[in-house]
Amino acid sequence: MRDNILGMLLDNKEGYLSGEEISSVLGITRAGVWKHMKSLQEDGFQIEAKPRLGYRLVSIPETLDSLTLLATMRTQAMGRNIEIYETIGSTNTRAKELALKGAPEGTLIIAETQTVGKGRLGRGWLSTRKKGIWMSLILRPDIPPVQSPGITTAAAVAVRGALAKISGLDIGIKWPNDIILDGKKVCGILTEMHADLDRIHYIVVGVGINANQERDDFPEGLISTATSLKIALNHKVDRREIIALTMEEIERLYFSYIKNDNFKDILEESRLFSVTLGRKVKIIGKDTEFEGFALDFDVDGSLLVKRNDGIITKVMSGDVSVRGEEGYV
Ligand code: BTN
Repeated sequence: MRDNILGMLLDNKEGYLSGEEISSVLGITRAGVWKHMKSLQEDGFQIEAKPRLGYRLVSIPETLDSLTLLATMRTQAMGRNIEIYETIGSTNTRAKELALKGAPEGTLIIAETQTVGKGRLGRGWLSTRKKGIWMSLILRPDIPPVQSPGITTAAAVAVRGALAKISGLDIGIKWPNDIILDGKKVCGILTEMHADLDRIHYIVVGVGINANQERDDFPEGLISTATSLKIALNHKVDRREIIALTMEEIERLYFSYIKNDNFKDILEESRLFSVTLGRKVKIIGKDTEFEGFALDFDVDGSLLVKRNDGIITKVMSGDVSVRGEEGYV
């Protein structure tokens, strides 16, 4: 009942809902409505109660919950099935467990903090409690596994678009999928796949967005390469809105890629916002290391680098780290 009342308040954010209307729609007494309003207020929902007008939801608590998230997201599939944790090892690990058990496409795992957050290339990922967005999305694309890097590119383009829209800031993509703000990393994406030779069982797209950290929230070793939206904007951002917009953007681009086979537009957008193309780069792999010039992306999203010896090399995203000439970007 409490959730139903909250649902009605969320649908009517702009105006007041009378106690009478709520009690007649939900079939409870007005005293019952009042009791649930009190309970919501105790949980941090700011609800204004005005004589003759009724109730109005003024603000919702910082802590993420599935009910208000579902009401904020305008999606068909992505994020329609949500699990939220106060603390978890890694949302990617949980998403993989769920995917193996048959969780549907679009299932979203979110945590307020991760104790063993995972980054690319076996690195860790700092997931400060409630300051960022730590989430993993399960996808089940019906495409051959060789086309899976396209999903990574689509995810980067989608997340970049969402962050740019919400912040109005100039945000770029460092190939393959670091999201860059003021020359530093504001978001990282870890894509993990389970597939046979000819069939993808699932892909988990793990997204870590530095949203509301202060400078002091980053350890010394990270402050030169990491930033947050709050640091750039000088004010807090609404994590719900960011999650909602990110899901909407992923849904739009993912379905355009999977259903309409449209990778061209995604690739074009990734070119447009690339902070890697046209620059000198250093490619660092497990067994290779070379320098060159980032020429372009190939049709599958891989990076074409003109090495210093003139040879053009195709670099796949899976196992390399890319550094700019003078450091991180
Ligand atoms: C990287 O840039 O190295 C990728 C970082 C990905 C971090 C996110 S946070 C949510 C999800 N769960 C994880 O353990 N990692 C990803």
